[in-house]
Amino acid sequence: MNVAAGLARDGAGAGHQCSTAMDRSLHERIAALDTELLRETFADQGAFLFLDTFLAPDITARLVDAVRRVDGEVNRNYLPGHKQGGSVSRHTIDRLAPVIAELYRSPALIRWLEALCGDRLMACPDTDPHAYALYFYTKPGDHIGWHYDTSYYNGRRYTLLLGVVDESSCKLEYRLHTREPGIPVVEAAVQLPPGALVFFDGDKLHHRITPLGANERRVSLTFEYVTDPSMGRFQRFVSNMKDAIAYFGFRQVFRQWHGKRTRT
Ligand SMILES: [Fe+2]
Repeated sequence: MNVAAGLARDGAGAGHQCSTAMDRSLHERIAALDTELLRETFADQGAFLFLDTFLAPDITARLVDAVRRVDGEVNRNYLPGHKQGGSVSRHTIDRLAPVIAELYRSPALIRWLEALCGDRLMACPDTDPHAYALYFYTKPGDHIGWHYDTSYYNGRRYTLLLGVVDESSCKLEYRLHTREPGIPVVEAAVQLPPGALVFFDGDKLHHRITPLGANERRVSLTFEYVTDPSMGRFQRFVSNMKDAIAYFGFRQVFRQWHGKRTRT
């Protein structure tokens, strides 16, 4: 469903009613942006956008505080040749840093993202540990290799990355148009300072994070939005295994499903 036309009329929504201070802050920030120009940039770049300043400093400060709150709950992973780093799932975030869930569900933010991509966006189901998550790069060599954020859902999956802590030399390296025949691939790299934003269609952007150097630290926040929250059984299995092994551990990923079964 194309929603760009309706949203372009009022950006994040001139008649938008802000429900929280967080939503109000985002609404004001978004109102100052040229959303129509950013929508064109997003489309021209094959469904990718980078803004080096997006979040207001007060929101970034709240995210830095959220990182401090979950610091003791980081799940470390090591997949030789592909990934090394730490992750905190939405389940831990809900318990210790609910401000992140509030940001994830901000109507002003979601409406603006819809205006950029032209799709109606939905939150991921409560069982998805990746709906919102923090990635920690804290040991030398922490990185993630080239990949797509593949959608296992029955629709598209969009990724929003927000910079929270960046005392590092890490770069997000990316390749645009890799799956668009006839369009030359464009390679580039950006750093993600606190408050920066990256938004892309997970199945279109080939990307990686380069290895952390000595005495460096980096934390980024990821949000996942979908156009259809349903998922086939096999895709659910593959997605859960990937999240358990590469990100959050089996306890975090399967606890929700076990809890669901025992409640019903
Ligand atoms: Fe990714």
